[in-house]
Amino acid sequence: MANLPRHVAIIMDGNGRWAKKRFLPRFAGHQKGIESVRCVIRCCVKQKIEVLTLFAFSSENWHRPIQEVNALMKLFIKALQSEVDELNENNIRLCFIGARNGFPEQLQILIDKAEKLTLNNNGLNLIIAASYGGRWDIAQAAKTLAAQVQAGTLQLADINEAKLSQALSLANLPAPDLFIRTGGEQRISNFLLWQLAYAEMYFSETLWPDFNEKAFESALESFAKRQRRFGRTGDQVEEKTS
Ligand code: IPE
Ligand code: IPE
Ligand code: MG
Repeated sequence: MANLPRHVAIIMDGNGRWAKKRFLPRFAGHQKGIESVRCVIRCCVKQKIEVLTLFAFSSENWHRPIQEVNALMKLFIKALQSEVDELNENNIRLCFIGARNGFPEQLQILIDKAEKLTLNNNGLNLIIAASYGGRWDIAQAAKTLAAQVQAGTLQLADINEAKLSQALSLANLPAPDLFIRTGGEQRISNFLLWQLAYAEMYFSETLWPDFNEKAFESALESFAKRQRRFGRTGDQVEEKTS
């Protein structure tokens, strides 16, 4: 496929509604959603996409009913236990972004282990945003830079966009080119606020558990047709590519 994104970032939304439509508990939707995660990872490996970032749990999702939060934590633990070896065999490098210190200890240990195990893989970079918020990310980056100024290793006058970028999650990766949100809502919900500055937005009505290879390819096709101007004029962009 021509004109592929290097980095795809997805808000996997609609699990609860998928379950509700079937008179199932919300948890059944989250469980079914794992299959879509597997499917999208396979597609990215096949298409040789460099980075896939998946929004699994937002800073705000902590406000959900405690039973749902607990069920999600258990599901994350189970998924890590059952999937990490296969990810590793497929040369996938797994990283988590977000305030992981809020997670149950068992989950934190599994995350650390998975990141260490896959650290030297050079296939797909799979990033899971969990307990993540774009505002949290910017605030922690500001804190990192402030600490450097305080320690005398960074001059106030040297703070710029590049320095802030380096202190954010995903610092050493290309910014997302394609943003996908399933489930019909058209909002960012505190996902990668800084990093999405120039991402192409793609909203799908499909609920996450129903999102499959065909749906993912439709998003890639839509992306391939877009002209990315980054503030320039269309003529300038055509000149550069012709
Ligand atoms: C997304 O699906 C998964 C998480 C936020 C963990 P939802 O649980 O938000 O599903 P809907 O939006 O209620 O259908
Ligand atoms: C965004 O979905 C977070 C994740 C998919 C992990 P939400 O369902 O939490 O978003 P809102 O609350 O509808 O904006
Ligand atoms: Mg939702």
